[in-house]
Amino acid sequence: MRNPSPQVRGVLHRWGNVLPLTESTPRISLGEGDTPLVRSSALERECGLDELWFKLESCNPTGSFKDRGMVVAVAKAMESGARAIMCASTGNTSASAAAYAAHCGLDCFVLVPGGRVAAGKMAQAMAYGSRIIEVEGNFDDALNAARELTAKHPVALVNSVNPFRIQGQKTAAYEICESLGEAPDILAIPVGNAGNITAYWKGFGECAETGRATLHPRMFGFQAAGAAPLVIGKPVAEPETVATAIRIGNPASWAGAIGARDESQGLIEAVTDEEILEAYRLLARKEGLFVEPASAASVAGLLKHGRAGTMRGGRAVAILTGNGLKDPDTAVSQYRPDVTRASATLEGVERALGW
Ligand code: F0G
Repeated sequence: MRNPSPQVRGVLHRWGNVLPLTESTPRISLGEGDTPLVRSSALERECGLDELWFKLESCNPTGSFKDRGMVVAVAKAMESGARAIMCASTGNTSASAAAYAAHCGLDCFVLVPGGRVAAGKMAQAMAYGSRIIEVEGNFDDALNAARELTAKHPVALVNSVNPFRIQGQKTAAYEICESLGEAPDILAIPVGNAGNITAYWKGFGECAETGRATLHPRMFGFQAAGAAPLVIGKPVAEPETVATAIRIGNPASWAGAIGARDESQGLIEAVTDEEILEAYRLLARKEGLFVEPASAASVAGLLKHGRAGTMRGGRAVAILTGNGLKDPDTAVSQYRPDVTRASATLEGVERALGW
């Protein structure tokens, strides 16, 4: 293959040297990775930090961090001859799998918890043409079914139990080290199935080993209080939270998350739905960053520590995992009361504005 032109982007081109690719791995891309790292303009002090940065994983092609890992998982599935992929999902994995399958001409099957996937994510999976099965159960039930189905049928499983997903997602840690010239003191991240915290910890470890960083960050993972198995130390049978992306009761990468927490001298804590929604609002209104509720969990956790006085300065990066447009219903239900009706006249609008 000719060298890619400078316009060619993507995780496989950019990070191929740290990924398990071979000559015959297809170099597919939808332009994932290389997401912005943006400095906080408002919440830094309240979080008790000297510096707070946001990694905008919402800027990936399907609007979440999943694309980084999906591109590797799909490329490796194609390399091994797969013609179809499958995942269980709370929404973002299915949107990403469906997009890469469409791009590569593969069949895609997604299992989602019936009625509990945010509207934007369902719209994506439908638009990209995946075969959608709504299961009567939660994400954990759907993942169990997907594991059994892919063991029996010739379909590649592209959940984060697929190690190529973790490989791809680790590249975000490389980008952070490159952008800051060092690893941050703290990496704050929402935790659901726990693949992403596992991937970041792997990435930061590799960055330290290869001289891209001298520090290892402390990993601060945050779960929703109604879906916090890692915090309470046992699976949750019926997880519940407004942050539907992380409504997961039995994370597949349990050991990876606990390893990341303990090896980094970090923590995994719970934040309530009220705290998540407050951070969701503050991110949009004070920072100009419209994220989905799950993404606000990490910032909710930092705010909690800042206010409690348990944060001692330093530099943190919070991973904003998914775009706010994914879940328009939560936004509208939160903000609809702020909208005023008026007649379409000078006087009508002035009256509505109180001018
Ligand atoms: N944030 C968002 C927006 C997510 O969609 C997810 C997981 C997470 C955080 C948690 O990441 O599972 O690696 O700990 N979403 C999965 C899905 C489960 O099916 O889209 P994790």
